[in-house]
Amino acid sequence: MITDYDSKAKERQEEILSKFNRAHTYVEKPMMKSMMRDLKVKKVLLLGCGTGDESLLLKEFNVSEIVGIDISKESINIARNTYPDCEFYVGDMHELPFKDNSFDFVYSSLVIHYSNNPENVFKEVYRVLKNDGYFLFSVGHPLRWTSEKVIINNEEFKLLGYQNSKEVNKIYGNYNTFTKVEEYLACEDITFNLFIASPSTHFKLLKRCGFQIEDFSESYAINELRELDYNYWYRYHEFPQFMAFLARK
Ligand SMILES: C[S@@+](CC[C@H](N)C(=O)[O-])C[C@H]1O[C@@H](n2cnc3c(N)ncnc32)[C@H](O)[C@@H]1O
Repeated sequence: MITDYDSKAKERQEEILSKFNRAHTYVEKPMMKSMMRDLKVKKVLLLGCGTGDESLLLKEFNVSEIVGIDISKESINIARNTYPDCEFYVGDMHELPFKDNSFDFVYSSLVIHYSNNPENVFKEVYRVLKNDGYFLFSVGHPLRWTSEKVIINNEEFKLLGYQNSKEVNKIYGNYNTFTKVEEYLACEDITFNLFIASPSTHFKLLKRCGFQIEDFSESYAINELRELDYNYWYRYHEFPQFMAFLARK
């Protein structure tokens, strides 16, 4: 997995465009596409756009103007060179450099889980969205990302559950608590932490910021992957890796 969004930005883009990144191509993007079908949008903000490749997906939905923002300078350099018809900015999702009511739609794939305060991001998105504008975003699913690595008979398991005993109160992983689960060296001088929250936590925070929730999905690997990588397909067909929310201002 490529996790340095600056020095590895080019490799990451190649991995995505060549469809080698299975989580993106066969799990996350199909979920996002399925939630966009009824949207008629004009000006879109790509929040945490990386190298800007999601602009290809959005163009399939007849978007007229695309603006992207990401904290990684190198990713934004590459995005500007690859997609000169879009506008790209370096910036932080907690403090967006855009006026109130600027966008019809905000799209964000696998970015908000890097915030230790997603409510602040939701407030910013609410501010820059026009009334009736939509906000579609995906984050890690707690079933996948808060499970605990356990070695049993030299085999690695990812477990979320508990020992069913009156005497031993051992639990594996956690589901309800907002948790920092991993650390990434993300850009040269910035360490990103991955924070995972339950679906109901996201629902409450979105509502508190004024959003109405229109749709919610949990990902599953699509059947196209079955032939290419049966094991990955089998696992993530049954267990959600990601989840996505469609909210309206
Ligand atoms: C998993 S990548 C997703 C990139 C792109 N959305 C995609 O799906 O290909 C996460 C992105 O979030 C960006 N990011 C992390 N924290 C950020 C922040 N505070 N503000 C803006 N972007 C951020 C990273 O630089 C990285 O490009």
